[in-house]
Amino acid sequence: MTQPALTGTRRSAFVVYRWALTVFLLLGVVQIFLAGMGVFALNGREIGAPGETAFSPHRLVGNIMSAVALVILVLVLVARPGTADIIGAALLFILTGVAQSVFANLGSDASFWGGLHALDGLIVIGLAGFLHVKAIRALKA
Ligand code: HEM
Repeated sequence: MTQPALTGTRRSAFVVYRWALTVFLLLGVVQIFLAGMGVFALNGREIGAPGETAFSPHRLVGNIMSAVALVILVLVLVARPGTADIIGAALLFILTGVAQSVFANLGSDASFWGGLHALDGLIVIGLAGFLHVKAIRALKA
């Protein structure tokens, strides 16, 4: 079904949505860096053990990214640019705000989930990149 043209409030929400995706992508790059830095700052401590602060910056940025993913979802629901964008943004929120915490917590007991956490990190960055390019194209059209 053809969507009506984006005008007024819906267009404004879509422009902010596009910039929120830019912020998400930049935080994603920082997040990968912080994960690597965390591993090298462990100094023999176990991840998640009492007193371990090596991953604190990564945990903080992860929570900020979850909040940004929620903002992205709200903005796309206001803009309603198309079904694919809405499904993509909903998936981005679930994979960032829910799955990443679940995988990270399960990863403490079984490394398989830690692997899924890292993989999911790359998937959310790829998905955000796809939605970002799609939004830029839609705004230019
Ligand atoms: C966009 C990418 C990523 C996002 C959004 C993300 C998000 C998060 C979040 C939200 C937490 C805190 C979980 C909680 O305490 O509930 C976390 C912890 C963690 N993340 Fe990531 N992460 C990403 C990529 C990675 C990568 C690539 C690695 C690679 C090793 C990694 C390793 C870890 C580890 C070791 C923890 C600590 C787990 C614990 O507290 O026991 N993350 N991450």
